[in-house]
Amino acid sequence: MSSSKRLGVGFIGSGFITKFHLQSWQAVRDADVLGLWSPNAAHAAETAAYARSLGVGETRAYRSITEMVADPAIDALWLCGPNHRRVENLEEIVAALESGKGRLLGIACEKPLARNVAEARRCVELIRRAGVLHGYLEDQLFIPSLMKGRMLSWARGASIAGRPYLARAAEEHSGPHMPWFWQGENQGGGVLNDMMCHSVEVVRQLLTDPTKPRASLRPRKITAHIQSLKWSRPEYARLLQETMGAGVDYLKRPSEDFARATIEYEDDAGRPLIGEVTTSWSFVGAGLRLSTELLGPEYSFTYNSLNTGGQLFLSRRITGKAGEDLVEKQNAEQGLMPIIGNEAAEYGYEAENRHFVQCFLAGRQPELGFDAGLEVVELLMTAYMSAEQGRTLEFRPPGLETFVPAVAKGTWKG
Ligand SMILES: NC(=O)c1ccc[n+]([C@@H]2O[C@H](COP(=O)([O-])OP(=O)(O)OC[C@H]3O[C@@H](n4cnc5c(N)ncnc54)[C@H](O)[C@@H]3O)[C@@H](O)[C@H]2O)c1
Repeated sequence: MSSSKRLGVGFIGSGFITKFHLQSWQAVRDADVLGLWSPNAAHAAETAAYARSLGVGETRAYRSITEMVADPAIDALWLCGPNHRRVENLEEIVAALESGKGRLLGIACEKPLARNVAEARRCVELIRRAGVLHGYLEDQLFIPSLMKGRMLSWARGASIAGRPYLARAAEEHSGPHMPWFWQGENQGGGVLNDMMCHSVEVVRQLLTDPTKPRASLRPRKITAHIQSLKWSRPEYARLLQETMGAGVDYLKRPSEDFARATIEYEDDAGRPLIGEVTTSWSFVGAGLRLSTELLGPEYSFTYNSLNTGGQLFLSRRITGKAGEDLVEKQNAEQGLMPIIGNEAAEYGYEAENRHFVQCFLAGRQPELGFDAGLEVVELLMTAYMSAEQGRTLEFRPPGLETFVPAVAKGTWKG
């Protein structure tokens, strides 16, 4: 382990989210991205070169996770592989640590912590055995406008008129970028698992008194619905298969592209609070849209990620190639389009990575650790159970520990 006060970080996975983290790292102090591993050596080398080009560290690609853990220059790992590889990635890290091949200060893991409660518990057990600090990477809690909106709502509104009682969060786009996200078994579900993990944490954080811990809010009941609105229509199922390959067949094995849930919370004084969350892969607008509201007795806060400061107009005579250079999950290259100046900051990655680096360097366990990730998985699985049973469920329902959604088993028909 390096002795200086800089954190040497290694990434597992070299895909979409790793690239976002690397961009964000330009605004992170006291830490360098020194390592990267993913099974495709060419991709790993390419992403390591990208990191070096950003100036975020002398990043090199390693031949294995174990080799990366064994390097004394690596103090912490950011776990950014696909959901179905989470447990095996963590098992390899812990085996390397337990056999004395290397030492780490901390491990941060992307959302969702795991595909179901049993796997998430396994992750918590492994991180305890590793004996290192741990972080659950939920970027949306670090969206600058949400952090400030929460702080001001509580400081100016709640302190005078009383605590907020209702929070809403939605995340919508037109569908993920890689086949495994669309495959229920690999991803763990459909859009509910993929994106509602963000929204449940956003509503929870907005409703939580900033002077109190995360546990001061207790989930009591959950009512949820899921549906396949768009991608199992025959013409869209065909289109999806053309773009994502033969392994994605939404006529036979759909995942939900719409999900909503109402989470009834109770605060530490026993007051009822409501979190409303909705997500979809069936939204066609300019691109990714995050929308949030917080309502209190005499105040309200709203946020919409597409209400950006910048807009670009392109006339019908301009027919450029498709891209994601204006906004994540962009759907058009013509007309009046929103542009986001710095998406890595806007979606929370910069502040998120600063936070976890600071915690790890200070030897402080973040409140947002693997236990928070486990509870998010418990909420999501309860939502799937509620949707499957068509009724409101008390949290935690019997059978949650071993529950696997029908979508993840490939038996859901929409
Ligand atoms: N915070 C967010 O908003 C956000 C956004 C996108 C993805 N994610 C999460 O990040 C993780 C990665 O998603 P992504 O979009 O980068 O996916 P991706 O498919 O773009 O990239 C996945 C990467 O993992 C690598 N990989 C393949 N097999 C592996 C294995 N056995 N072990 C480790 N890595 C392996 C692939 O080579 C690839 O580099 C997922 O858990 C996803 O849910 C979070």
